[in-house]
Amino acid sequence: MVQPTTEEPGSYTLKVCWMSHRMHHPTDLFRLPKKQRKGGGKHLSLPLDEVHLAFKEYLGDKVGLAPIYGTRPTRILELGCGSGAWAIQAATDFPDAQILAVDLAPLVAITLPKNMDFQVVDVTQTLPFEEKAFDIVHARLLLMHVPNGKDVLERAAKLVKPGGWLMVEDFDIRSLIENSGPVVSRVIDTWNGILRARGADGEIGRKMKIIIHDTGMYSQPETCMIPIPICKKDKAPPKNLMRLGAVFNMTVKKLVDDWAERFSAEGISQESAEEYKKEIETDFEDVTVNMHFVWAQRL
Ligand SMILES: C[S@@+](CC[C@H](N)C(=O)[O-])C[C@H]1O[C@@H](n2cnc3c(N)ncnc32)[C@H](O)[C@@H]1O
Repeated sequence: MVQPTTEEPGSYTLKVCWMSHRMHHPTDLFRLPKKQRKGGGKHLSLPLDEVHLAFKEYLGDKVGLAPIYGTRPTRILELGCGSGAWAIQAATDFPDAQILAVDLAPLVAITLPKNMDFQVVDVTQTLPFEEKAFDIVHARLLLMHVPNGKDVLERAAKLVKPGGWLMVEDFDIRSLIENSGPVVSRVIDTWNGILRARGADGEIGRKMKIIIHDTGMYSQPETCMIPIPICKKDKAPPKNLMRLGAVFNMTVKKLVDDWAERFSAEGISQESAEEYKKEIETDFEDVTVNMHFVWAQRL
């Protein structure tokens, strides 16, 4: 693993970072068994930089929906940073801030902006930061991956300074079960049960608002829910959702190969994986999954 180097903000280039680079830690729920990786089996893959660029396009080039532009944050924390793409954009958009990006897995070789650092942190353990230390704490597509995401969110909430912003974004897998055809629905429901058995909550996206509210530390959380159209046959998805739709269309198709390899005992066979892909591509018109954005200001 090459240590990241630093550069002036704006002069870095994103390197393609696939999710499979990051799947090696024992507590990661999406980890592939070593045996299968060595054997050249199919890997769980998610093009994280493309995911970021698709969200960026949807958000009109911003890092989120909270009213943070025009403010002068000095410390920003990104939990479960993946490829680091969100944190790199935050470092560019807020050049006076110091950005700390953390993840279970070290960053793959990448050039970082000068005002950005990376640290290996397991968010399921005690977070090694002082309370009220950051102007912005952000986590995207992290909470549904970890055991007891509610607990992680509550601890993250304590890290924000009074007046600062907590920004979290995650899926509600229940919406995909409800808004898809019979095979996709059954396979995703099975996977959701597997996550649940491991202590993770695939439906945490729609619960984040109430979790933040119930901490009593924040003003009324604001929310935005976007139904991402992952089926190519969706006739007219809003233009700013087309890139997100395309990247998650590819992702949900790739994921099922991994599941068929790992979870045949739980009922996801190779045959059902093929039917699932066919259903997404050809048989069903409106497969969508809800992504929830929640942001709140610390009192
Ligand atoms: C789906 S990716 C999302 C990455 C990034 N936030 C994004 O939106 O592109 C989930 C990330 O969470 C990280 N992760 C999973 N469990 C973690 C844990 N216990 N502590 C820290 N990071 C974790 C994974 O390594 C991965 O980078």
